[in-house]
Amino acid sequence: MFDIKRRNKAFKPKEMLERQTAIKPPVLDGPWPAGGIKYFAEDKLKFITEQVPKYAGLFEVKSFFFGKIGGDFDRMYIVSEPDYVQHILQKNNRNYIKGHAYEELKHLLGNGLLTSEGDFWRKQRRLIQPAFHRERLTGFAKIMIEECQVVMGKWRVLPNGSTINLSKAMMEMTLQIVCKAMFSSDVAHLVEEVNREFNYANEKLIQRTTNPFSLPLSIPTPGNLKEKNSYENIRKMVDGIIEKRRQSSEKYQDLLAMLMEARDEQTGEGMSDEQLRDEVVTIFLAGHETTGVALTWLFHCLDENNEVEEQLLEEFNNVLDENLPGIQHLRKLTYTRMVIDETLRLYPPVWLLGRQSLEDDMLGDYIIPKNTNCLIPVYSIHRDKRYWNEPLKFMPERFEPERSKSRHKFAYFPFGGGPRLCVGNNFALMEMQLALPMILREFTLHKPKNFTFKKDPLITMRPHPEMQMVIERRTK
Ligand code: HEM
Repeated sequence: MFDIKRRNKAFKPKEMLERQTAIKPPVLDGPWPAGGIKYFAEDKLKFITEQVPKYAGLFEVKSFFFGKIGGDFDRMYIVSEPDYVQHILQKNNRNYIKGHAYEELKHLLGNGLLTSEGDFWRKQRRLIQPAFHRERLTGFAKIMIEECQVVMGKWRVLPNGSTINLSKAMMEMTLQIVCKAMFSSDVAHLVEEVNREFNYANEKLIQRTTNPFSLPLSIPTPGNLKEKNSYENIRKMVDGIIEKRRQSSEKYQDLLAMLMEARDEQTGEGMSDEQLRDEVVTIFLAGHETTGVALTWLFHCLDENNEVEEQLLEEFNNVLDENLPGIQHLRKLTYTRMVIDETLRLYPPVWLLGRQSLEDDMLGDYIIPKNTNCLIPVYSIHRDKRYWNEPLKFMPERFEPERSKSRHKFAYFPFGGGPRLCVGNNFALMEMQLALPMILREFTLHKPKNFTFKKDPLITMRPHPEMQMVIERRTK
């Protein structure tokens, strides 16, 4: 502990200078030159699972590299106390930009909602948010049900007991859904191509954001040129669709139409074609991988917890009778929703959030100097025994409304929080709430004997290798 007045005149905010007890967070170091970041790089989930509980909500990871290589942040803090997380994401959100990790995503997403900042982001969010309001989403339920039927149609013709690649099936389904929600059936002929390009671009972006030694895209190596080309192709495809739509006199009710019609309340302006394209590409990327991964984890959790599956089937019988699920059932599928919430707790697809401080700030008594890269380990906060009873157990009941009331808002935040809360959260929840009863009433899914996997924390946390499941038709 030190007296900030005497020891550190560089920290500016008045409130901070008045404090007598401001303290620096504890430090985790390691062998030179990588320092503590070595342990993080070796095994990210192990690192956050083991280190986070040792410190009181905040610690610094030291490395010789910070502030030197890349130069876009000076130090790294791991922030895991819900009050502090709330401060960063909500209360003082204007002091924290997305910064470092999101820069690489801009190669594909440009200035879309996920990667833009400040007033520009605020204006875009105002324009886009209404397209994701619950009432507007109801029109997409039909697409979700149809696309789930397509997947199940492929399973129906397989011999009973076949092994399928669930990760791939769920990812394809969610991509088809977002594609149709965005463009109606305009692009049926393009879906295959969009799918292929997106998968490639996604893999490349993952390598770029998770490998600190990847070469800047501006260096024209054959690999970089191919990667650049893929991003270009996606942009061009989307540009083409927007252009065709601008010329069409037909009336559409899809997301693209909503984005094209959106007007800023204050200025009356709509989006430029370039901006539209960045938003479309962003929604594509943010909207399918996360939900595909979440559905994959969901079936894994049910395979591990057969009694939960039984209870789900009972709820489906009570609420749906013999019918397919529809928008009118969602409110009544309460246990289903709790099972989804519990899956997102134990397996949050977005397992880590990052922010960078613009100015000096305080978290509790801790000093957060400007240019600090603050990493928020959603995964370990969701599994912290300070906030969760028997945290590793799959217990959907913990999400009963009564039991959730006393929980800190930022002890559970699979969709982020504050003004940058996921804009597609209701879209995703609806997709999962519709797909789960459809699939589970017709099929049982079990991992093949001896199938093992690890949790692979890339941009999203996925199973590696991809999740395999043996599927069998239920006998009525
Ligand atoms: C289970 C599925 C999903 C999860 C777990 C998830 C998670 C998240 C999280 C944690 C953020 C905040 C990132 C940050 O603060 O740095 C976010 C933002 C975002 N998500 Fe999602 N998401 C999901 C589904 C979707 C869907 C279906 C869409 C669109 C159809 C979508 C579109 C977006 C967009 C555009 C943003 C940026 C919002 C902004 O900054 O204003 N997401 N998502």
